[in-house]
Amino acid sequence: MPYQNVRVERDAATAVVSVCRPDKLNALNDATLGELLGAFAELRDDPAVRAVILTGGPAKKPAFVAGADIAELAGQDPVAGRERSRLGQSLCDRIEGLGKPVLAAINGFAFGGGLELALACHVRLASTDARLGLPEVTLGIIPGFGGTQRLPRAIGLGAALELLATGRPVDAAEAHRLGLVNHVYAPERLLPEAKALAAGVARAGPVAVRLALDAALSGLALPLRDGLAYEASLFGLISATHDTQEGLKAFLEKRPAVWTGA
Ligand code: COA
Repeated sequence: MPYQNVRVERDAATAVVSVCRPDKLNALNDATLGELLGAFAELRDDPAVRAVILTGGPAKKPAFVAGADIAELAGQDPVAGRERSRLGQSLCDRIEGLGKPVLAAINGFAFGGGLELALACHVRLASTDARLGLPEVTLGIIPGFGGTQRLPRAIGLGAALELLATGRPVDAAEAHRLGLVNHVYAPERLLPEAKALAAGVARAGPVAVRLALDAALSGLALPLRDGLAYEASLFGLISATHDTQEGLKAFLEKRPAVWTGA
């Protein structure tokens, strides 16, 4: 489907989704949130897509996403504010629950809703010129696309509360130290490295990848005992799949596995 502010490109089993509002440093207006929801639904439902990279398209200055569109926030009443928060949260939930890995390639500013989108991704990679933060309190608002919940889970409560309460941005090196991003690359290496990581995912069994993500993410919302029970159920369930039989047999026969996704 054609989109105005979102570009989707395929590279073998990897899809690259770019947010494209060059004049606004890729800030997320409602229209763009709606387009991203549509794009991620299409990618979720396409079995040929094994991994997704989310990044910022070329803009005035290097930008992943500079946040929710402040011009739209400025006019919102309480009901519209709640709806906008729900819209952004549903996009982040869709990304997190996609069933295949989504890698954020953070190629510049990732503020507010931009960092919240990245926090919903399964892996975060940053370029050396990335700047990340939740500056909402400096605007007199609070994060509304999941940032208050996912940042503490990603980097721990103490570091998260400092960033949430001050709105202070961090550079790529500090983000790496905090565990907010997994790797930092020179700007020209960011996308190739993200694609290499995505290609690695494509070599693994798709059902196994889906269930491993599910076990980890669902388990985070559970007490450890329940999370372990859930893991054991999925571990048993996956034995019934063709891909498990194939993966184990292929290892013993010293050949690459041929996955069917079933
Ligand atoms: N919403 C709407 N427009 C935004 C935006 C946002 N979140 N972030 C940047 N823009 C727009 C600017 O208004 C400007 O538009 P204009 O050229 O029509 O005036 C354009 O993008 C370029 O931004 P500018 O501020 O001129 O660039 P800069 O290099 O001086 O600063 C930032 C870059 C990212 C530091 C700055 O734009 C910024 O602080 N943006 C808001 C970040 C934020 O608070 N996000 C959370 C929102 S909840």
